[in-house]
Amino acid sequence: MGKRTIVAMPGDGIGKVVLEEAIRVLDAAGFDAEYVHGDIGWEFWCNEGDPFPLRTQKLLEQHKIGLFGAITSKPKDKTEAELASELKGKGFTYYSPIVSMRQKYDLDICMRPCRTFKGNPLNFIRRGFGGVIEEPIIDTMIFRQNTECLYGGVEWTNPPDQVYDALMTHKKFRDNFEWCPRPELAVSTRIFTKKYTGRILRAAFEYAKSRGFTTVTVCEKPNVIRETSGMMLKLAQEMAKNEYPGISVQDTNIDAQMMWLTKNPETYHVMVAGNMFGDIVSDGFAGLIGGLGFACSANIGPEIAVFEPTHGSAPKYAAYNPSIVNPCAMILSAVMMLEHLGEMEIAGKISNAVAKVVEEGKVMTYDMMKLPGTPDAFSKGAATTRQMGDAIITHL
Ligand code: NAI
Ligand code: MG
Repeated sequence: MGKRTIVAMPGDGIGKVVLEEAIRVLDAAGFDAEYVHGDIGWEFWCNEGDPFPLRTQKLLEQHKIGLFGAITSKPKDKTEAELASELKGKGFTYYSPIVSMRQKYDLDICMRPCRTFKGNPLNFIRRGFGGVIEEPIIDTMIFRQNTECLYGGVEWTNPPDQVYDALMTHKKFRDNFEWCPRPELAVSTRIFTKKYTGRILRAAFEYAKSRGFTTVTVCEKPNVIRETSGMMLKLAQEMAKNEYPGISVQDTNIDAQMMWLTKNPETYHVMVAGNMFGDIVSDGFAGLIGGLGFACSANIGPEIAVFEPTHGSAPKYAAYNPSIVNPCAMILSAVMMLEHLGEMEIAGKISNAVAKVVEEGKVMTYDMMKLPGTPDAFSKGAATTRQMGDAIITHL
């Protein structure tokens, strides 16, 4: 395969630090690529009124593969207040650039692997029968629908007439919400379509098939949210029956699932959920395998794919010099990119190197040592971001 061009979008805060580290590791592992820089994030909202500028969109459309660090989003009042004065009142509206990116490019399939690295002091442990301490090996891929559901952005405060009138045609709305003055009414919708629900389910089934797993767990709440969760479950059951005869569908509710996470997480290998519940259950699983410092993800669409750690920009840590944050989540996201591109050998090399560093336990970032994330954490034995990157490179 010839030289690739990757759109590198560091974004804000620690996004800049961890992406730089991931590129260093990719280079050292022999991935033949050049990186073009894509502007994204808060700075571009403040100065241009657009956190996902057109020029960055063009780069992604051209090169198709992106590595993304993290962005900063702020509450509504700050969003307006921090906009450059000459842009204020000109009708600019803030939308999270990563959510916009997922929607614009149909990056509807989000994959969040949660796998135990042996020796990670943050691994989940539990007390088994007779008081023995068990450390289950977790190997779960969470498929989260990325573009619909509660994050679809179709919402109102003080809904306009047509919306209000439509809601009033529903008995439950008349019975339970008619009393509320309209300016005091906020509505966020949870939209599922058969097409995109089917796509995320198919991705989950295909993954299960390729890995030899015989169960796909749909984690929703179909007993209460009957239309949308119900649609996902029903489609999954039909798909299993008609197209994946060796795979069965397990149906769990998001609330119960969060409890089961700490009881028997090793029994779940392929989970699929809508946007909101997928976000929740994947963060829950991430907590069992080392937390945000290890949680990586892929956003995959029909043409474009973007890989990112699930953590945010952690603004407090951004100014630390040297940086102390854990680059593993970003580096493992880069591994997902390599797998997507079919660069299996380099992908394996990097993930094995991460595994070795973790298992050896000689180089650990502050989060792995359960130290407070203070600027002097490295003086207490924690590795800096750079030292962690170096250790991984040494083990390639
Ligand atoms: P966050 O993920 O940025 O940080 C939460 C805490 O997790 C940090 O204070 C730190 O203790 C720890 N942490 C995160 N990444 C770490 C790493 N690599 N190594 C070690 N520790 C790490 O979430 P928070 O504080 O809720 O949000 C900060 C900003 O990030 C907000 O503006 C938020 O909107 C944005 N955000 C962006 C996301 C994205 O770009 N996809 C996702 C989540 C939040
Ligand atoms: Mg999340």
